[in-house]
Amino acid sequence: MARILGGITTSHIPAVGKAIAGGLEQEPYWKPFFDAYPPIRDWLARTKPDVVINIYNDHGLGFFLDKMPTFAIGAAHEYRNEDEGWGLPKLPPFRGDAKFSWHIIEGMVEREFDITSCQELAVDHGFTVPMQLFWPDGNHPPAIPISANTVQHPIPTLKRALDFGKALGAAIRDYPEDISVVVLGTGGLSHQLDGARAGFINKEFDQMCMEKIVSDPEALTKISRHELVRQAGAQGTEFLMWMMMRGALGNVRALQQNYHIPISNTGAGTMLLECIE
Ligand code: DHB
Ligand code: FE
Repeated sequence: MARILGGITTSHIPAVGKAIAGGLEQEPYWKPFFDAYPPIRDWLARTKPDVVINIYNDHGLGFFLDKMPTFAIGAAHEYRNEDEGWGLPKLPPFRGDAKFSWHIIEGMVEREFDITSCQELAVDHGFTVPMQLFWPDGNHPPAIPISANTVQHPIPTLKRALDFGKALGAAIRDYPEDISVVVLGTGGLSHQLDGARAGFINKEFDQMCMEKIVSDPEALTKISRHELVRQAGAQGTEFLMWMMMRGALGNVRALQQNYHIPISNTGAGTMLLECIE
């Protein structure tokens, strides 16, 4: 049976990808952000997950406004990256695990989540920046991308995101092969990139979310989508990825957490949650 080792959250700001490309990790501006990652890499080196499930939100590379799946799951042998216009170097394709993907897709539909299956999917910075942060040498386990819509309303509710994660956790655990899995939730925390509130960050709300995602994720499902936009900014809705990740885990202990602003326009939260019995 497959086992879930834990979950990891991280911001996926394109500027982080540029900092990696430019070797700026130790610059004073970036150091407080990048310092969160070596302990997580150590944990990954110790626990050696066989597969990484990367829950992110596509920003218009894999899907666009003409066709916007609420939940999409990759079912490919590899996932290519493309130039998105952020000035990021294009990365080589990421290896997948199509067999495990199809098991998960089957399990999600069985649990009444009508997802979109993607035998071809270009992955953007929401997926790639976290992969670079956690496996800087590029030597990552096979990856399965799962994307949720945060681009075009109506977006999923926080409750739906947590429930998706619960179904995902069950689908993972009943995979008959004896493999271990780590689940990423990328994006957030509070940020608004455009409009009258551009630059909006809400540290208090972010820190409340970081606390509750460990101790009482159900309480967060009481936040409506409009309230989430008000409190976290239009792009702070990426917190839905954290809820999806959290739902898959069950009981956890937080081994590592870091919160740093400003990174670009975003309150950047990094957490390592290890599953406990
Ligand atoms: C930024 C943050 C994001 O989550 C994103 O997708 C793009 C840009 C930013 O803070 O610049
Ligand atoms: Fe984003």
